[in-house]
Amino acid sequence: MITTFRYPNRIVFGPGAITQLPDLLTEHNAERVLLVTDQGLVDAGLADRIQAETNKVATTTLFPEVEPNPTESCVDRAAQLLRDESCDLVIGLGGGSAMDAAKAAALREKHHAAFTVYEIQIGGDANMTETVCPIIAIPTTAGTGSEVGRSAVVTLAEWNRKAVICGPKLLPSVAVCDPELTLGLPPRITAATGMDALTHNIEAYCSTFYHPICDAVALGGIRLAAENLETAVKEGQDIEARSNMMLSSSMGAIAFQKDLGAAHSMAHPLSTVAGVPHGLANAIVLAHILEYNKPVAAERLGAIAQAMGCDVGGRSEEDRADAAIEAVKSLTERIDIPKSLSAVGVTEDQIPEMVQQAVADPNHVTNPRPCTAEDFTNLYHQAL
Ligand SMILES: [Fe+2]
Repeated sequence: MITTFRYPNRIVFGPGAITQLPDLLTEHNAERVLLVTDQGLVDAGLADRIQAETNKVATTTLFPEVEPNPTESCVDRAAQLLRDESCDLVIGLGGGSAMDAAKAAALREKHHAAFTVYEIQIGGDANMTETVCPIIAIPTTAGTGSEVGRSAVVTLAEWNRKAVICGPKLLPSVAVCDPELTLGLPPRITAATGMDALTHNIEAYCSTFYHPICDAVALGGIRLAAENLETAVKEGQDIEARSNMMLSSSMGAIAFQKDLGAAHSMAHPLSTVAGVPHGLANAIVLAHILEYNKPVAAERLGAIAQAMGCDVGGRSEEDRADAAIEAVKSLTERIDIPKSLSAVGVTEDQIPEMVQQAVADPNHVTNPRPCTAEDFTNLYHQAL
C-alpha cells in the first residue's frame, strides 16, 4: 500500500514565544501586518502584547471584529482591510474562530468566489489558484489546534450552515504557541477546550484512516492531556500544565490529519442546534461514543487506557477498554464537566434535527463503528 503522509508547519513553542515575532516577520519580509482577533482579547490586553512585538518591525492594522463562529461577512471585512492596507502577512490571534477567520481572510484577498467553492468535500483546494499571503497563528486557548491545521470553518449565514474550507495554502506558515497567553483562561473554558484537545487525540487515534505516525502523536497528546488538564483547570497559573495542554492541543490537530469520529459528528449539531460550546459538547458525549465503539475498538481503547495512566497489566482486552472509558469519565468529573446534555440545556425535541445534521457531518465516516441515524438517536438519548 502506498500512502502519502503530510506533516504540518513550523511551531515556535514555549513561554515567551511571542518575543520571536519580530524575527519571524523580518524573515517573511512582512512590513504591513493584519492582526485578526476578537474584542475580548483586545480588552484582555493580549492584542496589545502582540502589537508591542509586531510594531518593532512592521506596521500593524488591527481587525478586532471576529465573532464566535465567524461568518462570511466578517471574513470579507477582514479581507477588505487586508487589501485596503496592503498588508503582506496575516496574524490570527485567539481561539479557533480568530485563527480560522485569519486563514479565510488571507484566502479571500485574492479568491472572490463563494466559500462553497473552496469546501473540503468538493476538493475545493483545487480552486485555490491564486497566491495566499503568509499566515502566523497564535493560539490563546489550548483546544482547537487550528494553528497547525490547513482548514478553516466559515459560517454561511445565508444557508445556516458551516463550510469547512481546506487546502495547503491555509496552513499557517508558523504557529507561535506561547502558553503564557493561556494563563488567564477561566477554569470552565480551560476544561472545555482541554477536553476538545483530548477528544481530537482520542478520536484521531481510533479513526480508521491508516496513519501510524499520527497514531503515535495522538497517544502522546492523550498522555499530556490526562496528566495536565486537571492541574491546568484547578491551578491556572501552573505554566508547566498550561504548556503541556498547549502541546496536547497542537498534537491533537496534527493527529486529526487522519480525521476524527462520531463524537465530533454529535458535537457539531449540539453547537448549531442547541448552542452548546464545542469543547463542552465533546466532553459530554465522548465516553458514550467510546462505549459505543468498544465492540470494534477494544484494542485501541486499551492503548488509550495505558496512555491515560491506567494500570492495565494482566487485564483482559475488554477490561482495558473499560478502563479507558472510566478514565475519561473520571477526568470529566474532576474538572466539573456537566454529566448530561440536559444539564447544559439540551431538550429531547432537539434530537431529531441534531440527528439529521450528525448523519450529514463527515467526521463519523472514519469512526471505527459505523453510525446510522438510529445509532445517533440512541446516543443522543443516552447522553441526554
Ligand atoms: Fe474539536
